[in-house]
Amino acid sequence: MNSFHAEILMWYSQNKRDLPWRLTKDPYRIWLSEIILQQTRVEQGLAYYEKFVKRFPSIFDLAKASEDDVLKLWEGLGYYSRGRNLLATAKRIVQEYSGQFPVSASELRKLKGIGPYTSAAISSIANNEKVAAVDGNAFRVLSRFFDIEKDISLNSTRKYFENLMTELIEGDNPGDFNQAVMDIGAMICTPKNYDCGSCPLNFGCLSLKEQKIEERPVKTKKLKITDRFLHFLIIKDDTKIALERRSEGIWNGLYQFPLIESDSKDLSISDLRKRIDQKVDRAKMIHQLQKPHKLSHQNLHISFWELDAEDWEKKFDIQDLSLLSFPKPLNEFIKQFILEVNI
Ligand code: ADE
Repeated sequence: MNSFHAEILMWYSQNKRDLPWRLTKDPYRIWLSEIILQQTRVEQGLAYYEKFVKRFPSIFDLAKASEDDVLKLWEGLGYYSRGRNLLATAKRIVQEYSGQFPVSASELRKLKGIGPYTSAAISSIANNEKVAAVDGNAFRVLSRFFDIEKDISLNSTRKYFENLMTELIEGDNPGDFNQAVMDIGAMICTPKNYDCGSCPLNFGCLSLKEQKIEERPVKTKKLKITDRFLHFLIIKDDTKIALERRSEGIWNGLYQFPLIESDSKDLSISDLRKRIDQKVDRAKMIHQLQKPHKLSHQNLHISFWELDAEDWEKKFDIQDLSLLSFPKPLNEFIKQFILEVNI
């Protein structure tokens, strides 16, 4: 057995994180955990996993849910397309696979929301298939151990790491090997404050020897972050409020107040006029986020404006707001300013 594999598995058996999806081989639960953990830290994902398993113990329960139900449960986790894809895939598995989750990586790849990393994670964990799950942790751990200079911003680099990691997998537990790399990457070989002294791989880590840990992995392309200015209109009376359901973008399927997007923090009368036909004689800013709401490649500058727009259809009962799913910054606003609950 290669020593990378032997050392990392030995370490894993003694130090692995005690996580609920590690107590099962049920592909449904493993799939659920892997979708939740895409772009999400384990600490944040745990509570969502527990909520989903409790509410939808089987894929049949999930397939019967409405998109609003799933998005309500997903609320606050971000990247909402994951929640929408989760439901679409559950329905497909019930209809086309009689509810039996496929377990080979190639079959899994055909499903919405499952890419190379997630298919490998699920099939290695649930089905012991010998495939490498290469995520950000694996890029970091491997590029440091082998002191690899390849640029991980290039798509072609993934194949190189997949081949390398596949060669390292031995024995009957590829799922443990993949998860051991994840845990080393999350607990020891972290981007900053890495702890090489406690690392089971320090015996042969080339970047450690060459003092290149800080420089690995190589990533040349920085994300381009754009600023967006969102002005939400609060149009309400004592019991009702105007809302719309988004039909595009990152918050597709979630609810929001009528929105005007402009190119500055100010909302001009002409911006307002473009959105509202009726005469509006008052638009008062009632709240503005002090700091932008940060998404992976957007900074959202958000403000809330109260309007008297008599003719606007206020379709939703204010008392039902807590049943609907809102983007996080809107949810916080609702709790504080509309429902006036303590948060
Ligand atoms: N991140 C993604 N999948 C994971 C898993 N199975 N265990 C720990 N962290 C993860």
